[in-house]
Amino acid sequence: MRETYLAHRVATLKPSGIRKFFDIVATMQDVISLGIGEPDFVTPQAIVQAGIQSLHAGQTHYTSNAGILELRQKIAETLESAYGVQYDPLKEVMITVGVSEALYLALNAILEQGDEVLIPTPCFVSYQAEVILAGGVPVEIPTRMEDAFQVRADALAAAITPRTKAILIAYPNNPTGAVATRQTLLEVAALAEKHDLVVISDELYDQLVYGVKHVCFAALPGMHNRTILLGGFSKNYAMTGWRIGFAAAPSAILAGLLRIHQYTIMSAPTMAQAAALEALAHGQPYVEEMRSEYDRRRILIVNGLNHLGLATFEPRGAFYAFPNIAAAGMDDETFAQKLLEEERVAVIPGTAFGPGGEGFVRCSYATAYEKIEEALLRIQKFMQRYG
Ligand SMILES: Cc1ncc(COP(=O)(O)O)c(C=O)c1O
Repeated sequence: MRETYLAHRVATLKPSGIRKFFDIVATMQDVISLGIGEPDFVTPQAIVQAGIQSLHAGQTHYTSNAGILELRQKIAETLESAYGVQYDPLKEVMITVGVSEALYLALNAILEQGDEVLIPTPCFVSYQAEVILAGGVPVEIPTRMEDAFQVRADALAAAITPRTKAILIAYPNNPTGAVATRQTLLEVAALAEKHDLVVISDELYDQLVYGVKHVCFAALPGMHNRTILLGGFSKNYAMTGWRIGFAAAPSAILAGLLRIHQYTIMSAPTMAQAAALEALAHGQPYVEEMRSEYDRRRILIVNGLNHLGLATFEPRGAFYAFPNIAAAGMDDETFAQKLLEEERVAVIPGTAFGPGGEGFVRCSYATAYEKIEEALLRIQKFMQRYG
């Protein structure tokens, strides 16, 4: 018998640092979790009803591979009205099983074995693994709180080699909450142009911004032709369980994504597509309601953490605060573990998100205001012992 039947690239893949933590949390009681990376809201009822109605109407079949045309049209319309970027719904937009699938498709469609992908970190935990699974090499580019977690063009430029194929950016950012400035993105665009790179832009949290404007990377001059834009519904509309998202790209690239999708997925869930259409057509008031509640919690948690001596950069997007825990005099893994064991507050160690995350923890404020208040009281007790 072989020692393992698993492929080397799979057997050697590191398990996500987030999961390890949730396994511990699941065995404990009375935990306030600031660990969760998804909205605490349920999907707004009108959106749920659209999904149910589609099932009752007998829409229980596959859709076209690219997804229902009406939804692709609505996505194209929304992108144009929000960001002024134009996509042909027939050839440049496809519906996927969340941004997760869209990312998988994008990387597998463009990477040759050994191609390098520049990834500003800290970042969403799947990026490095997805690049490896697609045969590529993740090249991590740490960002820093001193730079407001904006990726620096000089750091990117220094990492470019003849094997560099793409840059994978994500603003608003998970886990830092940073929103890229137009200037940052223009500098990334200039590099992409100079070195002929593809830019994969994960804009899953585009509507969750507070007091600033989200800039769509593909809308920058000359960028439409080299950008794979990933977007979705999971966070904006509290629809994580529906597993629905989209990719938009120039037709020659999108055709590649679609080819893989056609053989692996066929089509995204039909009832989820109906619900997503309702979300785009009538969901804006719900987004605004959720956004203003997130904003209230954001102010509470950022002020609270700073007040306790945990220096916290002001996040302008998504629903995460990313405090520096140096004042506690321990590393982020120890901090998260002790805080969980001693005060029953779950946060995620920054190292789980890659280089640049050391010494920070991610606190999600996608949890009730009162729970955040209680979590802050518990963290205060913790800091009285260690701070
Ligand atoms: C930056 C980022 N991209 C993608 C995903 C996955 O999203 P989806 O539910 O659309 O697959 C997440 C989920 O946390 C995320 O934070």
